Amino acid sequence: MTSTVEHSASVPAQADDLIFDIRNITLRFGGVTSLNDVSLRMRRGQVLAIIGPNGAGKTSLFNSLTGVYSPQEGTIEVRARLGDSATSVIGQKTHVVNRLGVARTFQNIRLFPALTALENVKVGVETRQKSGPISAMLGLPRQRREDRESTERAFELLRRVGLQAKANDIAGSLAYGEQRRLEIARALGTDPGVILLDEPAAGTNPAEKRELATLIKGINTTDGVSVLLIEHDMKLVMSIADRIIVLNFGQKIAEGTPEQIQRNPEVIAAYLGSSADEVGDAVQAQPELHRIDTAVSLDELTGQQGPAAGSATSTGATSTGATSTEEWKA
Ligand SMILES: Nc1ncnc2c1ncn2[C@@H]1O[C@H](COP(=O)(O)OP(=O)(O)OP(=O)(O)O)[C@@H](O)[C@H]1O
Ligand SMILES: [Mg+2]
Repeated sequence: MTSTVEHSASVPAQADDLIFDIRNITLRFGGVTSLNDVSLRMRRGQVLAIIGPNGAGKTSLFNSLTGVYSPQEGTIEVRARLGDSATSVIGQKTHVVNRLGVARTFQNIRLFPALTALENVKVGVETRQKSGPISAMLGLPRQRREDRESTERAFELLRRVGLQAKANDIAGSLAYGEQRRLEIARALGTDPGVILLDEPAAGTNPAEKRELATLIKGINTTDGVSVLLIEHDMKLVMSIADRIIVLNFGQKIAEGTPEQIQRNPEVIAAYLGSSADEVGDAVQAQPELHRIDTAVSLDELTGQQGPAAGSATSTGATSTGATSTEEWKA
């Protein structure tokens, strides 16, 4: 029997194999410039994190990559699935971009709260099937076969995210962290080449964050899906990202490995609401404090007491001292 739902195989990363090639995009809303001449490239096989303070333009970037917003300037090309040719995203409808292999979750969870967990995931799976509403109404054989297949695939995905026991629960009744994982399962149901996760850990507790880190890493390495991740929780980001891009006021201010980003004065300054020079001076005096995952305030860096204005705690980063990523994972 030929399945009408295809699943991506695990694929090796290649240096020049780009999922997204974003060049010089600018997105404006009246007088507000949400993205200002942003260029970035995402390689296949990566977990690429986008970080930055509130209002930096992270969700605007996701919306531009998925057809929700159309930047006034620049180009975005996508090759979501291995072997695809490059397609321009700007001006495409969201469902078209999804069919190209780009799936996403939302900062504010968007499930069908009155449907069961299983039904929510089936909605994702069925976007890839061939039967239309007419054959569904008539209950034609292909439609019945596809319904059976989508149920099986949806169960498989619920198992993947650890929600198999909740298959028949109403989505709206699930705990917050479960709803976030259900959104991931639904997005995976569309068989994407890349999944965009907008703050998947928001509102979850430390145990749920650890499970989520394992899940996201597994989606990347085991399932072969590239991951673009917006997340404020620095420990989670630092533990799973291969590379990090930092936005601030709509501009890309840094790009590098987690280690490079943690020690970048401009990044620290953006989170603390101070200047890179001030951070640079403070860190020269006390290099051991210069790590973004500790999210110490500028006053702490400079040896004074009290929180700095616009300190990193308002971004959701922690202020608990020098907890290392490794400690957090343990
Ligand atoms: N539809 C819109 N209309 C007007 N302004 C918008 C719209 N979408 C985004 N913006 C503005 O663009 C800027 C960036 O917002 P965006 O939601 O992308 O930030 P963010 O980095 O995701 O922030 P957060 O961490 O708080 O989610 C903000 O000033 C926001 O008000
Ligand atoms: Mg956002």
